[in-house]
Amino acid sequence: MTKPSLSFSDTRRLSFICDHPLYVSSYQKLEKLEKNRIFCRHQMDHLLDVARIAYILDLKMNLGICQDLIYAAALLHDIGKGRQYEEGIPHEIASAQIAKQILEDMPPEFIFSDEEQQEILSAIRYHRKLRSDPAPLEFLLYKGDKMSRACFACPAEPECNWNDTMKNKEIRL
Ligand SMILES: [Fe+2]
Repeated sequence: MTKPSLSFSDTRRLSFICDHPLYVSSYQKLEKLEKNRIFCRHQMDHLLDVARIAYILDLKMNLGICQDLIYAAALLHDIGKGRQYEEGIPHEIASAQIAKQILEDMPPEFIFSDEEQQEILSAIRYHRKLRSDPAPLEFLLYKGDKMSRACFACPAEPECNWNDTMKNKEIRL
């Protein structure tokens, strides 16, 4: 039977990422550090919101990027946030460092190609500030990240230091 998919996707890659000891320890540290945070958090709800929005945009714009590539980038894009809180390392840099190790550890039967790994790492590295000529995955991750936040329904919005033009003051389609 033909796989009903626009492109090859492999959920084993996503399970591998989430089960990797470095991912688990980084995620648990971040969860603990954000326990009492009133502003946006960076746990699984956010990561999956970003993945799904980015994939919707991928379909709407006919970019043809593999779903698992998008999901891998989304699952990893904030994983270094704990290091930002503790060590002052910008989280796009810390996340890319952690992601690199996890992606390289993938078993040969489903490891991302070198080119795909670079696409994911570059999307993570530049997800906070869009470059002037972003690669398609960079663009999707950036947009998905920003669109995922429901500022219009957030009680902490008045105190949030996000630039006013970036806040989602209404539902965006
Ligand atoms: Fe994010």
